[in-house]
Amino acid sequence: MSAIKHQNVLVLGATGSTGTWVVDGLLESKKYHIIAGVRPSSLSKPAVSKLRERGVEIRSADVSMDDITKLQAAFQGVDTVIVTLIFTEIDTQPKLADAAKLAGVRRFITDDWGTACVPGVMKLYDKKFQIREYVKSIGLGYTFIDVGYWMSLLVPVERREHSEYPDVDFIPSNSYAIFGSGDVRTAAIARSDIGKFVAEIINDERTLNRYVFCWGDEKSQNEIWEIARKVEAELGKEMDIGPKRVVEKAEIEEKSKSADPITALGHEYMNSFFIRGDNTVENAKKPEYGSALDARELYPHLKVLSLEEFTRQLYSNLY
Ligand SMILES: NC(=O)c1ccc[n+]([C@@H]2O[C@H](COP(=O)([O-])OP(=O)(O)OC[C@H]3O[C@@H](n4cnc5c(N)ncnc54)[C@H](OP(=O)(O)O)[C@@H]3O)[C@@H](O)[C@H]2O)c1
Repeated sequence: MSAIKHQNVLVLGATGSTGTWVVDGLLESKKYHIIAGVRPSSLSKPAVSKLRERGVEIRSADVSMDDITKLQAAFQGVDTVIVTLIFTEIDTQPKLADAAKLAGVRRFITDDWGTACVPGVMKLYDKKFQIREYVKSIGLGYTFIDVGYWMSLLVPVERREHSEYPDVDFIPSNSYAIFGSGDVRTAAIARSDIGKFVAEIINDERTLNRYVFCWGDEKSQNEIWEIARKVEAELGKEMDIGPKRVVEKAEIEEKSKSADPITALGHEYMNSFFIRGDNTVENAKKPEYGSALDARELYPHLKVLSLEEFTRQLYSNLY
């Protein structure tokens, strides 16, 4: 396995929920010169100052306003571009990919960071799939990375302010909802583990022009509740995380068609995870799901959190 030494790696979305941990993993590896592409309106944000203090170079890059020439200039000298932008900005990626190609970027990592699926099930996945196809079509080097569902969205928390998305009703951590039987397993990851996988993947020729699936555990919702109760008892906490509420397939299908885009998107996800059972490591490896390389098999030395370890960490810190 050959690899480029001292790569320049540019992250778009470095202050976000995924990007923060990607940058952390890259910094911890001490293998890269890291650059954050930041929109001008965010350059004075404390999060950006913190990145600067940690040795991250800051370049101005406005993914929606900048034209290809400006973006090409921002990508000059960069070996790998990693996109971790908010999902509402993913349509800017064909332009970003064109600019990366012109700038001689060797590997472009698209804004995926999602779950295993096939086209025709979730509109957001379909958009991401089309972007992957576009990147392939222009002959730009790529790696597509999915990570399963964030564990923090699966494990029940007692109070909304402890949730990643306090205002979102459907996510299992907030709603205590069991979708369907509760016995369908889904792949999940602690966000804090994403960066360590990325630091390996971008230094590995085996992953160039491949799809890689990173994950920490695979559990059903019923198993997750058993873990939550076990950890609660073990820590001697008395948490009010019940009762569970079963959401049947018909309700999921109806809410997938909701006029509220977040409710619709969320229930498409729940249908994919818990009714269809798309989001598993076994599926990710199938040709129709993109023939993923399993990151745990590629990097067996990496220590990642199981769902139980994540829950113990979460409840110890919160309650
Ligand atoms: N697997 C899962 O369970 C899961 C869960 C959630 C999301 N995701 C996926 O993860 C990926 C990243 O999402 P995220 O939730 O981590 O992102 P996020 O926290 O929403 O991050 C937003 C980042 O995008 C930047 N940004 C926001 N608006 C922008 C704009 N108009 N122009 C340029 N930059 C802008 C922000 O920079 P500023 O500092 O400038 O605001 C920030 O760095 C998405 O593809 C999403 O679908 C996966």
